[in-house]
Amino acid sequence: MSTEYGNIPEETIDAVLKQHDIVETVGRFVHLTKQGKYMKGLCPFHSEKTPSFTVTPDRQIFYCYGCGMGGNAIKFRMEIEGLSFPEAVKIMAEEVHIPFQSTGGKPESPQDRETGRLLQAYEWSEKFYHFLLKNTEHGRPALEYLRGRGIGDKLIDQFRIGFAPDRWDTLVQFLDKRSFDLAEMEKGGLISARQSGDGYVDRFRGRIMFPIANRSGKTIAFAGRILGEGHPKYVNSPESRLFNKSRVLYNFDQARSAIRKQRQAILFEGYGDVIAAWEAGVHNGIATMGTSLTEQHAAMIKTAADEVLVCYDGDNAGQNAALKSIPILEQAGLQVKVAMLPAGVDPDDYIRSNGGERFVRQVVEDAASTTKFRLATLRRGYKLNEENGRLDYAKAALPVIAALGSPTEREVYLRELSSEVDVSFESLKQDCNLIRQEQSRPAPGQEDPGPAYSGPQPGGGGQYGGKGRGRGDYGNKGGFGKKGGFGGGNGYGNAAEEDFFPQQRRTRPNRDLLPAHQAAERRLLFLMLQDRQVCDYVAQRLGDEFNTPDYAAIAAYLYAFYAQDRDPDSSRFIASLQDEKLEKAVSSIVMMEGAREWSEQELDDCIKQIRSQGNLRSSGIERKREEMMRAEKDGDFLLAAQIASEIIALERQ
Ligand code: GTP
Ligand code: MN
Repeated sequence: MSTEYGNIPEETIDAVLKQHDIVETVGRFVHLTKQGKYMKGLCPFHSEKTPSFTVTPDRQIFYCYGCGMGGNAIKFRMEIEGLSFPEAVKIMAEEVHIPFQSTGGKPESPQDRETGRLLQAYEWSEKFYHFLLKNTEHGRPALEYLRGRGIGDKLIDQFRIGFAPDRWDTLVQFLDKRSFDLAEMEKGGLISARQSGDGYVDRFRGRIMFPIANRSGKTIAFAGRILGEGHPKYVNSPESRLFNKSRVLYNFDQARSAIRKQRQAILFEGYGDVIAAWEAGVHNGIATMGTSLTEQHAAMIKTAADEVLVCYDGDNAGQNAALKSIPILEQAGLQVKVAMLPAGVDPDDYIRSNGGERFVRQVVEDAASTTKFRLATLRRGYKLNEENGRLDYAKAALPVIAALGSPTEREVYLRELSSEVDVSFESLKQDCNLIRQEQSRPAPGQEDPGPAYSGPQPGGGGQYGGKGRGRGDYGNKGGFGKKGGFGGGNGYGNAAEEDFFPQQRRTRPNRDLLPAHQAAERRLLFLMLQDRQVCDYVAQRLGDEFNTPDYAAIAAYLYAFYAQDRDPDSSRFIASLQDEKLEKAVSSIVMMEGAREWSEQELDDCIKQIRSQGNLRSSGIERKREEMMRAEKDGDFLLAAQIASEIIALERQ
């Protein structure tokens, strides 16, 4: 039982890594080109236009200089497909026909076993509710209600919909008979404790049950909808060890392959919308659990999609929710479009009254850019039939347009605005350029930082004069992005990022900016990773005296790794860490440039450098301690307290 949470034998991990070449693994998702010892491509984990994503076949690892993501083939699959470590290993093992057993020597922990029992209970409850809906008298009204809404048998099966009868202990009895520990089931959110404290009652009564699945399709919660009208409309399972609302998206498990194929996800507000869209042939629909979208949701979507179509209700609440979701999605590196539904209509209604085909043609395919959507939402607050209203709207709209990176895009919106507010395009353009000058980082008049860089900069508003044909300035890469969209597409996010991190960020990894002692630590680890002799040398002379805590940890793990008589192998070493922060750190060290040759002289120099920093710090602290004691002795407690806080700060460093 509970195969996914058990321990995985080291040999399985080794075999999986041996059979899954990193270049092949990554190559299925990223177009790689060879550059000396490396392969390079556009990072799938953040949005970029110049490749900073590197794969080293020699070491079987990947690393992105842009976002710091790195690791071995297993890590890549975990991130790109949104899998846990055991899930990724299992899938990869099965792909190359390696037998996968989960428990390798070490016994499962009690937590693993409890999780396993809960998953089992959720699975059985889901099947039980589904059975009650389809095959019993209890379920008949619910079945009729669903049919009335156009949810027939096919959808009921597809979404494993069920029914919880309006009785106190249907599920309690069911679980009890199957010897589940009711206290554990209560903790896991399946049933409720009686107020009186003795015994348990069903949490869901007289409700249509929508199972909520995790990424691998296992039920981890329910949403129970009342039949017809009433309050509350939905009762959800509480958060539990299985279920965390801010990490779960309804239907993600079933939609993932369609999302990946189309590189697009459609984000709805309601379960009903997801289901109706599915029936209409739209299989890339997902929804949050009635809560706002989180960063984790966005990251989860990014593992499968490049673009998200936000398709919320056409009312104010829906549109406001969309405005809130857009920046979260953009921040995750997703392109965003917004479906414009008629006011007061939700996607479910729309599909029911207009049919699926029209939904696809008129809503999905005609979705607006986020700028168009922002402007449309803004426009609603002004009276465009009055001159003041028009001018106020223009004032509010200009900063939105000014923030766009692509001149062509700005021109399109300025022209539209011009006809809406009845102000000449030239005047609007001048105002827009003024705003851009205020917004831009380098003071006006300063030159661009480099010849290759002139994309999102204002480009010197003056030179347009009154002509208003802004086309001249996009002969460079700022104009059309890789995907044929406008300047990479996602409005604010990209423009801002480029403003703050011009080109050189990529070509010059931050190694150069590190303090000498840290560079020495990285150089040592770099050599230790590829040569056990270096590792032994450092172990004897420096031991755990690395100043940077993460590096000290990595060194400790490396000592242990070689102690098991293993050959240098960065990729396997990373697999043994299972700590994201350290994995990234090791990947970045492995990717460092620099000679692989070493001499004892060099090692000694590094060690000296690291030691002297350590001494400096501890001697600094020692000195301060003495000062503090002196101050206390002198009765100057204020000074003593001040020194104490300095010591704490030093120790933190
Ligand atoms: P239908 O009315 O059947 O079309 O349901 P819907 O899923 O489309 O719901 P609606 O558009 O009213 O709300 C959108 C989402 O908000 C729902 O899918 C739920 O996730 C959430 N929601 C709505 N009402 C409630 C409620 O009473 N309690 C909770 N917990 N969530 C709710
Ligand atoms: Mn609805």
